[in-house]
Amino acid sequence: MKDLKKNKSNESQYGDTGHEWDGIKELNTPDPFWLRALFYVMLFFSLGYWFLYPSFPGQQDDGILNWSSDKETIEGLKEIQSIRDKILPEFNKASFEEILKDPKLLKFAITGGKSAFHNNCSVCHGIGGSGNKGYPKLAAGSWIWGGKPDDIYQTLKYGIRSEHPEARDSQMAAFGQDKLLTEEQIRTLVPFVMGLHDGTGYSDQANAIYQANCASCHGKDGAGNREVGAPSLKSGVWLYGGDEQTIYETIYYGRMGVMPYWEGRLDDPTIRQLTIYVHQLGGGE
Ligand code: HEC
Ligand code: HEC
Repeated sequence: MKDLKKNKSNESQYGDTGHEWDGIKELNTPDPFWLRALFYVMLFFSLGYWFLYPSFPGQQDDGILNWSSDKETIEGLKEIQSIRDKILPEFNKASFEEILKDPKLLKFAITGGKSAFHNNCSVCHGIGGSGNKGYPKLAAGSWIWGGKPDDIYQTLKYGIRSEHPEARDSQMAAFGQDKLLTEEQIRTLVPFVMGLHDGTGYSDQANAIYQANCASCHGKDGAGNREVGAPSLKSGVWLYGGDEQTIYETIYYGRMGVMPYWEGRLDDPTIRQLTIYVHQLGGGE
């Protein structure tokens, strides 16, 4: 209480402004020197800035520095293009093996591939190729169609089940929907498929159905077959999912995943850059 009273003294060596409300006077103490100095420094700084980079709404003048963000972008693009033009002939001539061995070409491929991947591929395959349900993980090394640069290049150029005449194509039947297997047979198969990696779901009955209907594409032991893009069923990496319900649906309805083709949508050097980028994500062969 004592302190409060002291602060209420309402006196100043500079007097007051003459304003008074209910006995409270407005004192005339000037603001501290440092605050006023800072104010003027900032005022002059902003004026200088305004002459260098005019920012008045509607102002056409480019200022003393003649800078604009458009010009900066255009110059940046020109610089990138000139670096690209310099290295492109060498890049186009080199085989994938040569690119992988040459640090300069490798860096060029990965830098360009990374940005093209971000723009065109990560919507489906996830950032950095981390994968999504139905869209394969590209960094895992568990390839459906193949992980050599030539395999990846072919996948990118023509797509999978795309409209391109050269597309990679294959079709797993909708075993349930098309009445190739009964629901009971599919139920018998599901635990067998789930346990292919460690043999836990084995039964003679399921094995017989599997060998008759599935082995031609997925292999006798479930290792998969790249010729027809049949994924491995024992790698532990699932494209659609390894739980009971998902496997049942895969067998019942089939899947028919589509990967678009990129020939004509991206230029060939970009497709080759992407090939190297995907190869280098961690699973390349
Ligand atoms: C519209 C979604 C979509 C887009 C966009 C897409 N992909 Fe795919 N991609 C798929 C699907 C679905 C598959 C799997 C197809 C299958 O079942 O075999 C696939 C498969 C692949 C494969 C084969 C993987 C393997 O295991 O053999 C590669 C490589 C690939 N994509 C790379 C790319 C690259 C690079 C891009 C960008 C240029 C891209 N994808 C854009 C959907 C897409
Ligand atoms: C004609 C070849 C073919 C036959 C026969 C076939 N499949 Fe497939 N299977 C595929 C292909 C191709 C895919 C990839 C799915 C896609 O994206 O369309 C696939 C995918 C799968 C998947 C999904 C794997 C994952 O990672 O999510 C399972 C499970 C599966 N098959 C089980 C079976 C079973 C069980 C049978 C026998 C009843 C069978 N398949 C018969 C070609 C075949």
